[in-house]
Amino acid sequence: MEAHHIEELISEQEVDKKIKEIGEQISRDYEGKEVHLICVLKGGSFFLCELAKRITVPVSLDFMSVSSYGGDTKSSGVVKIVKDLDEPIAGKDVIIVEDIVDSGRTLSYLLSMMRDRGPKSLKLCTLLDKPSRRVMNVKVDYTAFEIPDEFVVGYGLDYDQKYRNLPYIGIVKFD
Ligand code: IMP
Ligand code: MG
Repeated sequence: MEAHHIEELISEQEVDKKIKEIGEQISRDYEGKEVHLICVLKGGSFFLCELAKRITVPVSLDFMSVSSYGGDTKSSGVVKIVKDLDEPIAGKDVIIVEDIVDSGRTLSYLLSMMRDRGPKSLKLCTLLDKPSRRVMNVKVDYTAFEIPDEFVVGYGLDYDQKYRNLPYIGIVKFD
């Protein structure tokens, strides 16, 4: 691993406060309904847990894991399902919970795949958004933070599988 250090970008308190606000907003938007949260592993897991705790309408959870195909197909944004959902989503009010939308390739593919399964509604909630990096047009319904084009870690996001457990968002600075 290249020599590097982590600089705090968003503090633990700021992240917690914002997640609470989004939880309240989702609770208002889905009043009288149930919400089915889909976590994209592994990055979305910390955000999902904190967010789910702040939602006051009935919540059910499911998890999926995807990876990008290498080589030529990568630019097309085709992703491989490594672990599929346990439950069907037909007829459910679904929110996909992601750690970050960067180029938008993963999410645009995932959204169209999920749409084909016939949910009653489908929204996207992301902890972080790097809008300057967008290649695919993805409609994000709930965003906790828009961030500049920096490589970030913490709160589920990794650098080579490390730092997911940081309670804040940090920028990886190479020394
Ligand atoms: P996409 O480019 O929008 O398809 O994003 C693909 C994936 O790249 C995200 O789900 C993250 O797992 C990863 N990623 C993008 N930017 C960062 C970052 O700044 N830190 C850590 N992972 C990132
Ligand atoms: Mg991800």
